[in-house]
Amino acid sequence: MQRGSAPEMEPYARHVLVCTGNFCSENRAGRAIYARLASLLQREGLLFGVTRVKRSEAPCLGVCTGGPIVAVYPEGVWYAGVTVELLERIVLEHLKEGRVVEDAVFHRMTAE
Ligand code: FES
Repeated sequence: MQRGSAPEMEPYARHVLVCTGNFCSENRAGRAIYARLASLLQREGLLFGVTRVKRSEAPCLGVCTGGPIVAVYPEGVWYAGVTVELLERIVLEHLKEGRVVEDAVFHRMTAE
């Protein structure tokens, strides 16, 4: 990359991936979860600064059942069947307070 052309990134603490595809949930329910996530992050003050949470939508996260599927990194924690109520818990307990919502986790990344 040429000097001076490198992109810059503001600090962030976590990255949330939301599947908005149509195989894991009926009527692509992940789209509503993804939209709601933005307002919850704003409400909880998680859009700026070192605690910032980035969010991205994906057309498929390779699970394709039991959705909507939401993954949180760097923990590599995956949640299934994410409703608006569960999303609220994920934002408050996991993203804000750092406590994984254990009862909703269906998969964890394995690191070598
Ligand atoms: S369509 Fe959601 S994980 Fe594949």
